[in-house]
Amino acid sequence: MTISSRKTLENTPAYVAGMREDLVKQKYGLTDIIKLSSNENPLGPPKSALDAAKRVLSGMGRYPDPLSGELRALIAEHDEIGEDHILLSHGLEEMIPALCRAYLNPGDESLQPAMTFIKYEIGARIMDGEVVKVPMQDLEIDLEGILAAVTDKTRIIWLCNPNNPTGTYFSEHALVNFLAAVPEHILVVHDEAYRDFTSAEDFPMETVPMLKDYPNLILLRTFSKAYGLAGFRCGYMISDPEIVRQVLKVREIFSVDNIASAAAAAALQDSAYLEHVKEVVLQGRDYLTASIKRLAGKVSGIQFKESQANFIYVETRYESAFLFEEMLKQGVIVRPIGAYGLRITIGLHNENIRFMEAFKKALAAGANRQFQNLHKQRGVTA
Ligand SMILES: Cc1ncc(COP(=O)(O)O)c(C=O)c1O
Repeated sequence: MTISSRKTLENTPAYVAGMREDLVKQKYGLTDIIKLSSNENPLGPPKSALDAAKRVLSGMGRYPDPLSGELRALIAEHDEIGEDHILLSHGLEEMIPALCRAYLNPGDESLQPAMTFIKYEIGARIMDGEVVKVPMQDLEIDLEGILAAVTDKTRIIWLCNPNNPTGTYFSEHALVNFLAAVPEHILVVHDEAYRDFTSAEDFPMETVPMLKDYPNLILLRTFSKAYGLAGFRCGYMISDPEIVRQVLKVREIFSVDNIASAAAAAALQDSAYLEHVKEVVLQGRDYLTASIKRLAGKVSGIQFKESQANFIYVETRYESAFLFEEMLKQGVIVRPIGAYGLRITIGLHNENIRFMEAFKKALAAGANRQFQNLHKQRGVTA
């Protein structure tokens, strides 16, 4: 007997998480590997957060506060907005489909850039929404193209800024112009998961005050990236209170556990840790950017854009699956994207150096393979 799932799942992509380190070790007989595939913080969680998490362990026999009241109050103070504008979730991985459950009816259009975080598409398809993808413009989000794709069926627009996986960003000016042009019944989600890594002066850091003029704007933030708490699972949205009320109806009731909220509260107050993370990541980003640029001057077919996030996206002339495997063999896990793209999370300095070595070797293996194939095609044995 075949048990059928809902029809929409036939076209719903499965989320593929970064590869498990123990499995890579096992497969290639390696002892030392580095994981640069899930945009995590290379410094790990702050000590302040781990201490705070340990302190609440004895209370884990009780259900947590559904609103994570103490953390919510701290965020409200930190982001200078009323508490009723804030809703926490089990990471943004929970919030994104919850937004779709709250706002998408079957057949409604969910509008997004062609290359962006896959969860927007998964969330929309699960609700039988129509996913409309707007082509990128030279790896950047084409805001004008997105506006031109708005129809009377559009319900939600996803903007990831800086964008995952390309690392590109758009300015505050561009965002405000975009918001002014979007009809007010359409939700605009501005996913700011990587905002703390930005250094561009015109990046829209001050988005909270925009909520006054644009009640259809939703801001998404997470403790998984710059705050180093990916394993704890805690993120939040800032929006009009009515949106908070609606999403709360479809979000898990006890979504954020006490360990996660205690860790997040401590991390939020640990500004020295955040500064340190930013320093390490920005130095690593400068190093990798310069190294890849140099390489692109020597090896043809390498394309990349400068990144504002804690990862770098590169395209080469070799299949991403091949390069991915070649680097895995050397104990370096990156993320293959599409046919020719790779996304590399910025690591600690020694990890970045190791990545560059592995990348060069993988490219050399690609060139060698291409050469051999050419010979085979011509009937010449190499
Ligand atoms: C753009 C973007 N949004 C949201 C998330 C999910 O973050 P969280 O760990 O809070 O679920 C990610 C994770 O990689 C992401 O890249």
